[in-house]
Amino acid sequence: MKTQGGTVKRTALTLFASIAVAVAAVGGILFGYDTGVISGAILFITSEFALPPTLEEIATSSVLVGAILGAIAGGLLADRIGRRLSIIAASVVFLAGTGIVVGATDLSIFLVGRVLIGIAIGVASFVSPLYISEIAPPAFRGGMVSLNQLFITFGILISYGVDFLFSSSGDWRAMFALGAVPAAVLLIGMVLLPDSPRWLLSRQHMNRAIAVLEKARGTGDVFGELDDIKKAIGMQKGGNWSDLLASSIRMPLIVGLGLAVLQQLTGINTVIYYAPTIFQFAGLHSAGASIAATAGVGTVNVLATAAAVVLIDRTGRRPLLLAGIAGMAVSLAVLGAGFAFSGAVQGGSLLGLITAVSLTAYIASFAIGLGPVFWLLIAEIYPLNVRGRAMSVATVANWAANFLITLTFLTLVGILDQAGVFWLYALVSIIAWFFVLRLVPETKGLTLEEIEEHFRAGRHPRELKGVARPRD
Ligand code: BGC
Repeated sequence: MKTQGGTVKRTALTLFASIAVAVAAVGGILFGYDTGVISGAILFITSEFALPPTLEEIATSSVLVGAILGAIAGGLLADRIGRRLSIIAASVVFLAGTGIVVGATDLSIFLVGRVLIGIAIGVASFVSPLYISEIAPPAFRGGMVSLNQLFITFGILISYGVDFLFSSSGDWRAMFALGAVPAAVLLIGMVLLPDSPRWLLSRQHMNRAIAVLEKARGTGDVFGELDDIKKAIGMQKGGNWSDLLASSIRMPLIVGLGLAVLQQLTGINTVIYYAPTIFQFAGLHSAGASIAATAGVGTVNVLATAAAVVLIDRTGRRPLLLAGIAGMAVSLAVLGAGFAFSGAVQGGSLLGLITAVSLTAYIASFAIGLGPVFWLLIAEIYPLNVRGRAMSVATVANWAANFLITLTFLTLVGILDQAGVFWLYALVSIIAWFFVLRLVPETKGLTLEEIEEHFRAGRHPRELKGVARPRD
């Protein structure tokens, strides 16, 4: 194969590719909306179904259990029936789950709906980035895949707004019902769009693959890219779960699994789910403070992710990861110190200020690095024949770690105090920083086939250096 950055020379951004990417990224809105909406809805659900604390916890976390199941099933689906049909199936399941939740007359029906919604999110959470990575031109792939993360953060922010809007009426059914809007857009959009050229080629749909590639690149001259994909397919065999054990996939699997777990164990969802609680710990008890905390966290998350979308194909993945994780470690350490020494600073306003500043810095640092880059890298570093399955393994680990962190946060605070918990997350951030430094490849500007070729040759991830590919 040619040198890195060789055959596919210039890449232009076409309207067709942009639309395909924007539609698939709506999967991110589903992800964000339904992980966020529960925080405002749960109060009313708890009172309508008279739930004790344990059942309240189950009602809250059922979507995560579903997401783990969906991430398991999605791997096989994405490789077998394709990226497009998997996303279509996820939208249908999402709509069915939403219907069941909205009509639920007791907890068990509600839980069935929430698990179904979770399954859909589990599938969409990685098949959307997967589809995007396989249709995007290499020079724009980072930003385009990260659009999915931008839509996740946007979905979270909208859900906070919707919760706020319906909080006076207590209409929790309406809160969930609105999730059907992005799901319908995703469903209709994906029905109208073709599958990714790489999946089509892997299934020998040559003519369809060429047609999609020509439309996506805006030129009839796609034979260089086509040849590279065919060559890569020719070197692969099988496409079974056991192929994940091949020695050439070992390092990419370690990278994906490591980032999956570290993205969660550095504590992001304690802030996303519990920001108002953390502010209460810091002595800010008013409803106004709690709304400001949630809105502030949500907004900073969106803005910093937008910056990542713009930067990621220019700076590359590694600099954003390293800078972002360093920022997370420092802000967590400061947050912990604020709580540890709150006696000395007399609780109240100074601790409130430290909490607000360090949480904002923490969220911005996550959003510029580990948030988007994890989902991007797992869509880039696996060979085509097992891409869906390998991504599914990393995604399952991510949702499972999310579940673990969410479930243990309040208990951990009871055992270690707030300072201890934030310092623990700071420690994990330091580990994450070294993990990235030693093991994470730079994929900027490379085609998926160049990345695949690198790992097939048995080379270390760190030897993969990105290229500055010219853009039209
Ligand atoms: C993570 C989610 C998190 C979200 C916050 C995603 O990348 O996987 O767990 O809630 O970012 O923006």
